[in-house]
Amino acid sequence: MPRPSANDITQETLPKISHGRGVYLWDVSGRQYIDGSGGPAVFSIGHGDPRVNAAVARQMEKVAYGYRYLFTTDPLEEMSAIICKATGLADMVYTTSGSEAVESAVKIALQYHFDRGEPGRVKFIARQRSWHGNTLMATALSGFEDRQRAFAGALPVVGRVSAANTYRLPEGVTREKLVAHLAAELESEILRLGPETVAGFLFEPVVGAAGGALPAPEGYAKAVAEVCRRHGVLVICDEVMCGSGRTGVWRASEEDGITADIITVAKSLSGGYLPLGAAVYTKGIADVMAAGHGGPLTGHTYTGHTACLAAGVAVQKIVEEEGLLARIRDKGPRWRSDLRARMAHLPQVGDVRGRGFFIGVELVADPETKAPFAASLGVNGRIRAEALRRGLICYPSGGHVDGAAGDTVILAPPFNASDAELDEIADKLVATLETVLAGLPS
Ligand SMILES: Cc1ncc(COP(=O)(O)O)c(C=O)c1O
Repeated sequence: MPRPSANDITQETLPKISHGRGVYLWDVSGRQYIDGSGGPAVFSIGHGDPRVNAAVARQMEKVAYGYRYLFTTDPLEEMSAIICKATGLADMVYTTSGSEAVESAVKIALQYHFDRGEPGRVKFIARQRSWHGNTLMATALSGFEDRQRAFAGALPVVGRVSAANTYRLPEGVTREKLVAHLAAELESEILRLGPETVAGFLFEPVVGAAGGALPAPEGYAKAVAEVCRRHGVLVICDEVMCGSGRTGVWRASEEDGITADIITVAKSLSGGYLPLGAAVYTKGIADVMAAGHGGPLTGHTYTGHTACLAAGVAVQKIVEEEGLLARIRDKGPRWRSDLRARMAHLPQVGDVRGRGFFIGVELVADPETKAPFAASLGVNGRIRAEALRRGLICYPSGGHVDGAAGDTVILAPPFNASDAELDEIADKLVATLETVLAGLPS
C-alpha cells in the first residue's frame, strides 16, 4: 500500500474501472490504460482471459468450495502438483493473500522447531528496506518504518540486518566485500540474539515495493543460507512479489542457487483472477509436523478455496503451455537494457535494475552523491498521477533509502505482453518521468 502524498490520486479522484483485456484496462469514461506493472505485480497473464474465466465458472457451477478440512478437490490436487514440481518442495498451506502466506510461513517455522524439540527457537531476523505484508507479524518483519510507525508499540520484536543493495553500499564496504560483509552481519545478529532462540531468517530474493525490484548480489543467498544452516535457522524466501515466474524462473531463489526451507508465493500464482497464496515447505518440515501434530497447525476457513485454485491452475497452465517463462528470460534483459538506454538523457535516473519482467527504476536528486529527493516533494506520488494521466499503470513507491525518502518505479508487465506493448510501456514511462522531473522545484 503506497504512502499517500499530496500528489497521489485520492479515493475521490480515482478512475472507476470498467473492464480489461490482455495488457489494457478501460475506465467507465472509455479511457484506456496500459498495465505496465500488473497492478502491484499481480496480473501475470493480463486481464480478462476467457480461459481462466471459464475454468472458474465451470468450478463455480459444480461447487464454489469444498472445505479444505473436509474434502480434497481436483484444483487442489492439480495446483499442489504444479507447485511441488515447480519448487522442488513437498507441501504447502494455502492462503488468500501474501501477508497470510508470510504469517503461515512464520507459524510453520515455529511449529517445526517446537515439534522437533527446540521450542525456544521463537525469534526471526529480517532485512531493512523490505516489505512482507499487512498482518501484524508480517508488518513486524518488514523493514519499512513509514508503514510501521503507527503500529510500532504492538509489533513483535524482530532481529534486523542490512538490505543487500549494490547501488547503496553500507558505509566503508566495497562491492567486492558486500556479500561477505552481509553474511558476517547476519551471523553476528544470530549470535547476539542467541542461536538457540532463532527460528528463521526471511528475505525477498528480489525486493519489491520497499526496494524497487532490487536483486541481491550474486552469491548473497548462498552465503546467508550457509550461515543459517550452520546455526539451525530456517531460510524463508518471501517470493510473494518476485516469485511464481515473474523473474523468468518459477522460484526466484532458483536463480540464486538455493532452495529455501519455506517459500511464500501469492500474486502471480493466480494472476489476480482470484485471491490465492501459499507457504510452501520441504519434506523434512512436513515430516516433522506430521509426526508432531499430524500436520501444520495453521490454516484459514478459505484455505485452499476451490474456485481460487481453479483460477490458479488455469493461469499456471497458460504460463506453461505458452512458454512464458522462456519468453521472460529472453526478453527481460533486453527490455531492461532498452529502458536504461531510453532514460540515459535523464540524470535523475540513478539505476535501472531487476530480473525478468520485474524492473525497478530508482530516481535520485543528485546522481553524484545518490542523494534521494526529499520525501516532502512526493516524487513517487507525482509519477503515479502523471502516468495515470498518460494512460500508464506503473508502481511507484517511496521510502526505500531511509524509510521516508527514496523514490522508485516498478515495472512488472504481464508475462505475455508483446514487444509492441512493452515499447508502449517504455515510451509512456519515459514521457512521464520527463514531465515529472522537469516540473520539480529546483
Ligand atoms: C514481498 C511481499 N510479501 C508480502 C506481501 C503481502 O502480500 P498481500 O498484499 O497479498 O497480503 C507483499 C505485497 O506487496 C509483498 O510484496
